[in-house]
Amino acid sequence: MIARPASLAVRVPGDKSISHRALICAALASGRSRIRNILPSADVRSTAGVLRALGAGVPELGDDMRVDGRGLVGLTAPTHALDCGNSGTTARLVSGVLSGCPFASRMVGDASLSRRPMGRVARPLTMMGAHFAFDAGEHLPMVVTGGPLRSIRFESPTASAQVKSAILLAGLVGRVAVSVTEPVRSRDHTERMLAALGIDVRSLGLEASLEPASELSPFQLDVPADPSSAAFFAALAAAGGVRGGGALELTDVALNPTRLGFFRALREMGADATWEVHREECGEPVGTITIAARSLHGADIRGEQVPAMIDELPMLACLGALAQGNTEIRGASELRVKESDRIAAVVQNLRAVGADADELPDGLRVRGGTRSLGGAVRTHGDHRLAMAFGVLGALTGDAITVDDPDCVSVSYPGFWSDLERVTA
Ligand code: S3P
Repeated sequence: MIARPASLAVRVPGDKSISHRALICAALASGRSRIRNILPSADVRSTAGVLRALGAGVPELGDDMRVDGRGLVGLTAPTHALDCGNSGTTARLVSGVLSGCPFASRMVGDASLSRRPMGRVARPLTMMGAHFAFDAGEHLPMVVTGGPLRSIRFESPTASAQVKSAILLAGLVGRVAVSVTEPVRSRDHTERMLAALGIDVRSLGLEASLEPASELSPFQLDVPADPSSAAFFAALAAAGGVRGGGALELTDVALNPTRLGFFRALREMGADATWEVHREECGEPVGTITIAARSLHGADIRGEQVPAMIDELPMLACLGALAQGNTEIRGASELRVKESDRIAAVVQNLRAVGADADELPDGLRVRGGTRSLGGAVRTHGDHRLAMAFGVLGALTGDAITVDDPDCVSVSYPGFWSDLERVTA
């Protein structure tokens, strides 16, 4: 009998989406909440700082933190601009909260965030009765003035959890009924968390709706690991890059079906990818993902699959360079308005390291089978580009250099040491 190599286990840091929402809900709750294993990253720190400036009792991020909420109507006017840093989730979700608050707040962000579209939240929130004033275009800096809100039934032109969540949070704080219908279902963490906290939130097909409530209960939450961070190691394992050549177990991961598109795609590419739910946390299934290497072939990704793997597409494209055959991603024009234009940046960088890739208006195409890659990658300060090309480098002999490795701190501060531990 041939012994199978032992599998290695990794627990990546807490989920970014759930961490933002946990802080926001805790700030709006009537009393003290306890949050364990929050993601201690720059983006989540932006949300914590913004909520602190609005009067919530938010300490420094830590493994076991207590947050003192101010209730749905207890946030207070900030004395300085709210700095959202690099975080689109902070800017958009907080703009929903601010829409229901009877004061004006100026929101600012870094250069990348100041290029990203805010009209997508300003439009529905203005229809509800909030007021948005932009310095220029529909970008940060912007001043949000909240007040009494009206109910809304909004048909969102984009599948965006940030837009949907902004509207749901505006309904919560403004105490009005809201409904949002999306073209494709986006991640539903806000709906799950609010429902677990006793709010009447319903998801029916592509529609999410919320009924007004008088208060939000404080809660306890142990944040599960982030499937988007786990995806980098899943890619590594699927392509045979794990130390000892065995399988990789990614433990305690949020297994919300609206986040698992990348792992389903890995299966379609031929990888041995399985997952099993072990517990539930604030309405979120949590468990273990196991990945073993097989020979990979290219993937064909279409629009309806995109929201469930939106942040993993740079990694998928990089994996496409190693797989047999072509990988094509379509219906993903949202990638152009992420932390960087991820379509242009991924294709330029794949070419820079010697892979064969083309830009498409709404996606990209990669011709696979290149094993020997090397060159310099420009991240444009985009954390997911740094990590995707970091994994590609680890899989192809460490000849890929990344210009700004520290930008991973936006979502995964210990990424490079974890990568070394798993591959060394
Ligand atoms: C997020 C939603 C996604 C995702 C982002 C985090 C969230 O954006 O890309 O990293 O926490 O709601 P959209 O759903 O707005 O595309």
